[in-house]
Amino acid sequence: MFSILSQKALLWSLILLVCHFAISCKGNQQGEYLYKLIQSKKSQQKDFSSHEEAYYLSDFSDEYVSHEHDVEQQLRLKEADKVKALPGQPKGVDFDQYAGYISVDAKEDRKLFYYFVESPLNSSTKPLVLWLNGGPGCSSFGYGAMQELGPFRVNSDANTLSLNKHAWNKVANVLFLESPAGVGFSYSNNTSDYTVGDKKTAIDSYFFLRNWLSRFPQYKTRDLFITGESYAGHYIPQLADLIYSKNKKNENQKQINLKGIAVGNGWIDDNLCMKGMYDYYWTHALNSDETHYGIEKHCHFKSFNESNECVGYQNKADDELGNIDNYNIYAPVCDSSVTETSYSENNFDPCSDDYTTTYLNQPEVQEALHVKATKWLPCSDDLSWTDSPASILSTINRLRSSGISIWIYSGDTDGRVPITSTRYSINSLNLPIHTAWRPWYNYKEVGGYLIGYEGLTLITVRGAGHMVPSYQPQSTLTLISSFLQGKLPP
Ligand SMILES: *[C@@H]1O[C@H](CO)[C@@H](O)[C@H](O)[C@H]1NC(C)=O
Ligand SMILES: *[C@@H]1O[C@H](CO)[C@@H](O)[C@H](O)[C@H]1NC(C)=O
Ligand SMILES: *[C@@H]1O[C@H](CO)[C@@H](O)[C@H](O)[C@H]1NC(C)=O
Ligand SMILES: *[C@@H]1O[C@H](CO)[C@@H](O)[C@H](O)[C@H]1NC(C)=O
Repeated sequence: MFSILSQKALLWSLILLVCHFAISCKGNQQGEYLYKLIQSKKSQQKDFSSHEEAYYLSDFSDEYVSHEHDVEQQLRLKEADKVKALPGQPKGVDFDQYAGYISVDAKEDRKLFYYFVESPLNSSTKPLVLWLNGGPGCSSFGYGAMQELGPFRVNSDANTLSLNKHAWNKVANVLFLESPAGVGFSYSNNTSDYTVGDKKTAIDSYFFLRNWLSRFPQYKTRDLFITGESYAGHYIPQLADLIYSKNKKNENQKQINLKGIAVGNGWIDDNLCMKGMYDYYWTHALNSDETHYGIEKHCHFKSFNESNECVGYQNKADDELGNIDNYNIYAPVCDSSVTETSYSENNFDPCSDDYTTTYLNQPEVQEALHVKATKWLPCSDDLSWTDSPASILSTINRLRSSGISIWIYSGDTDGRVPITSTRYSINSLNLPIHTAWRPWYNYKEVGGYLIGYEGLTLITVRGAGHMVPSYQPQSTLTLISSFLQGKLPP
């Protein structure tokens, strides 16, 4: 068992290495890392874990939870994490920011980096939102916080920041976690920790939360919502499932007050997501009829072990796309030779990845964030991924009976994890409908469409790509406000 895993891990890291050089200066690395994982699963002709199980729930003790009785020390650590100001931040910042490390193992080898922004008004009554990006291996700080829903965006000078009018900290206290160790500023002293998968990511994230709540005890009983996108379609349900089962063991004293999860353009089922992707290519005029019919005829989408004919047509489908941003099919791609840009907040700059990377590598910025000097990358090349179930649907299904609210949202111009993939996945659960398909409104405009199933809401965001909050900041804020209030948007 172990040697099989390490062989796979080796293969995966080789594939990663090769791909890395092919994609440097690509707009959305998060999606590319997801695609690399899929390709490596495909090339191994079988799934990393043939059937999905709550295997990450195997018993583990609470040994990594820090000693909560040391209240004064926790207070000191919290004060030390307070960010006075980020270099280049604009005037008028009226909320508190914190950044630092939380240990997730007993030897203090593994430290996960977090960035936390409180709400400017009434933060003590607003919920706590944890945001996770995917990859696997990509940073929730570099994407989520700096390019999507955080309070700042890095300007094209890569030195100054501007305020995001539609930041989620208008309605919540938002916690960004770089996970697992090896991603962004999160690290381990022991490089064997970089051989990692879904299981260890879920467990480390759980200990992160417990230990973070010790440092910020005022949030211990606060409503918690876990949100994120892409490969976090694995992380979020797995972490929620873990929290739920841990809470169940301690009925009297819930350790984490989880109220809901929201998954954006999430990769939740290998086969149905693949099928949905190719169908989206054809229905959005990105592929020829010939290729589409070839895929229909030769691909079965029952496992990654497809015939050579199928693989041939799939490669053709990828080639036919040309140089578009597959994560937002109608958007411009980043061209770093163009110096004049005219992107407004609602017109997301496709070179944001570059500005963010330059900014986060400035020594003053790293100092302000209380991290040790590091070469920060949006996605990590150090990780070898060992386990990744083919489907998360039974975990999602199990969570439906836990009483938390479950929203699956989808930006409808994402080609990599498109709405068709999400629909095929959700439809396979055959859930009873209790709110019929209808448009929802952001002010007077249709923000997207929604359908309510028993214990699960599917909701689209019109005109948004893979990184939904980047492309439709205003309607996404409307959506997430409704989610946090436990009601459907208007
Ligand atoms: C903050 O709370 C006060 C008192 O509950 C309320 O009157 C006020 O409207 C709240 N402000 C915001 C922005 O939520
Ligand atoms: C791990 O590295 C950190 C920072 O370099 C150091 O402070 C810590 O003592 C190390 N832990 C171990 C167990 O070596
Ligand atoms: C690193 O971690 C591995 C696996 O947990 C362990 O076997 C090894 O002893 C560790 N190495 C050091 C130097 O602590
Ligand atoms: C994949 O499929 C081929 C024939 O379609 C079969 O011979 C082979 O054993 C399969 N491989 C795996 C790993 O299932």
